[in-house]
Amino acid sequence: MQPDHDVVISANLEQNDLRINPSPQPDFQEILAARYARRDWLKSTLATGLGLASATAATTSTPTRAADSSGESTLKFTEVSHGIDQTTHAPPGYLTQVVIKWGDPILPNTPPFDPAKLTVAGQLGQFGYNNDFLAFMPLPAGSGNSTRGLLCANHEYTVPYLMFSGYADKMDAAKRLTADQVAIEQAAHGHSVVEIQRQNGVWRINTASPYNRRLTATTEMLLSGPAAGNVRLQTHADPTGTRVLGTLNNCAGGVTPWGTVLTCEENFDSYFGGKLADCGDEEIIAREKLAQLRIGIKGETDFAWSRFHDRFCLDKEPREPNRFGWVVEYDPYNPASVPIKRTALGRCKHEGCTVVVSHDGHVVAYTGDDSRGEYLYRFVTKEKYNPADPAANQHLLDEGTLSVAKLTADGKLRWLPLVHGSGSLTADNGFDSQADVLINARLAGDAVGATPLDRPEDIEIHSPTGRVFVMLTNNASRTLAGVANPRVKNVHGHILELHPPTAEGGFNHTADEYAWDLFLLAGDPGNPEHGAKYHPDVSANGWLSCPDNCAIDPQGRLWISTDGAPYTAKMADGIYATDITGPGRALTRMFFRAPTGAELTGTCFTPDGNTLFVSVQHPGDEESPQRMARSTFDEPSTRWPDFDPAIPPRPSVVAICKEGNGMIGN
Ligand code: FEO
Ligand code: CA
Ligand code: CA
Ligand code: CA
Repeated sequence: MQPDHDVVISANLEQNDLRINPSPQPDFQEILAARYARRDWLKSTLATGLGLASATAATTSTPTRAADSSGESTLKFTEVSHGIDQTTHAPPGYLTQVVIKWGDPILPNTPPFDPAKLTVAGQLGQFGYNNDFLAFMPLPAGSGNSTRGLLCANHEYTVPYLMFSGYADKMDAAKRLTADQVAIEQAAHGHSVVEIQRQNGVWRINTASPYNRRLTATTEMLLSGPAAGNVRLQTHADPTGTRVLGTLNNCAGGVTPWGTVLTCEENFDSYFGGKLADCGDEEIIAREKLAQLRIGIKGETDFAWSRFHDRFCLDKEPREPNRFGWVVEYDPYNPASVPIKRTALGRCKHEGCTVVVSHDGHVVAYTGDDSRGEYLYRFVTKEKYNPADPAANQHLLDEGTLSVAKLTADGKLRWLPLVHGSGSLTADNGFDSQADVLINARLAGDAVGATPLDRPEDIEIHSPTGRVFVMLTNNASRTLAGVANPRVKNVHGHILELHPPTAEGGFNHTADEYAWDLFLLAGDPGNPEHGAKYHPDVSANGWLSCPDNCAIDPQGRLWISTDGAPYTAKMADGIYATDITGPGRALTRMFFRAPTGAELTGTCFTPDGNTLFVSVQHPGDEESPQRMARSTFDEPSTRWPDFDPAIPPRPSVVAICKEGNGMIGN
């Protein structure tokens, strides 16, 4: 992402700086200001019924804070300190192992990683670049095993000036990369499945496993659901509109109760060059112009792909972008399974997709659209989950109702259905069919009056309370003149907590109306200008900025990873843990720290909670603070994790375990 701080050091791909949503709906910060002007934070937190035990517990901390805050938390590790250097940091008593790195072979007959001689054939059998989302899928399937399983990893995007020698920055690479290098980039995208096993405390990959596979930007996939086959998904190469080559910019994801993995396409817009206006087909131009604008496609690409591949040129294949921006489902236990893009879940810049079975057996999927001022979506399946009949669940995500969230200052959230023919979703407003509603989910959200949010990222569900936690990473580009709100520029982000109603059999994730609350407002509680809100005992190391990914451990605690920690505060990105309920609620504590330039993503626990897998993404991707020039393959700011002068920094997965084993955090 592009951080919003005075010195920009991270340069991850996400082009989310400027809001493009023209919606006149009050955005979340206005709603927040209105709500909390009437009802202070303490009252609202206590009103949830699960709030804090102490009456002081939700007030802002004082600047004189301890360096470490065990206090009332159930999390007993010694906090890692804020700071920034070339490597990772875990608390005393924890071991960090690098499990797999970019370029490690995972398929048979694959050459070892050699950064001086990268090849397409090699990369097709090697672990991809910039691993992001992680799922640990136990082996055997459904066993709950915590020592053997499939590590399923997204490879979000490539950083050519860190992968190849001789490039100064992204734009230089976009102009000069060779066709072979582009093909290597495409092979380094997508997803990996690799069997891993823990023996004598050590996690190892099994390079001979028949489960191992790579999905790339050229792997054949299917489109299914209401939009599949629609004329807007048809191209010269695929007149059926049902077969797509590859998946792009796979950020976060999810797992389903039936054992499949969801991988989500986020910032796919930036791969497309050329001009729609030059495609020569007036009907297509008329149809796609607004749609492309609304999803952020301007024909300005910082990838080199459109120089070599017509399908990434808007003038040659103007509908190809409609085939990206979906939630993709595949079966990791069947290496021959074809991944399927599920159009029923809508098309946007999906961060992830979090699935839960509601009280009555319907399956519910939550997904955020990670750009400034975009929306939160929910999909409810038409049919119910049937644990006894795995085959019956294979197409659950093809039929159901997609909705979008509208939040109001009275603390209510309403799910507004995106159903063709209802309300303003008609041909008069440019929606000829449900396919149009789904392909243009953002425009449909605008039409029904959804609430613009501050970059909705990862989502997790706390099973004991049914609460849905939504990470809203930041939004510093807002200018809301006249609204009395210290957080007009939401530089540090916040965490939203949604409360579906209780129902017989659990929580009703299919209800039309939920309540919402704030879990925390990120930033430094010791700096009044930040307007941060946490538990008052948050330490000088425990505060965070820009929540992005999250996970809930087997004891029901929230683990938050950040993307965009303020360099001005000399902070690397990190992982922070907090209790959700009880006296340690919103008492975030710093657990793990990234190397310089990196973001931590993909936080994922084994079922027993004894291993935490984390993606260390884009290490060394920054402008060096020493040189104020971009860190490159030839002169990187870190060589984590190899620290070998011949090897550039490598995105990798680490496993964090306790010395002598035991549950992480206790
Ligand atoms: Fe790829 Fe929204 O982070
Ligand atoms: Ca992310
Ligand atoms: Ca997650
Ligand atoms: Ca992010």
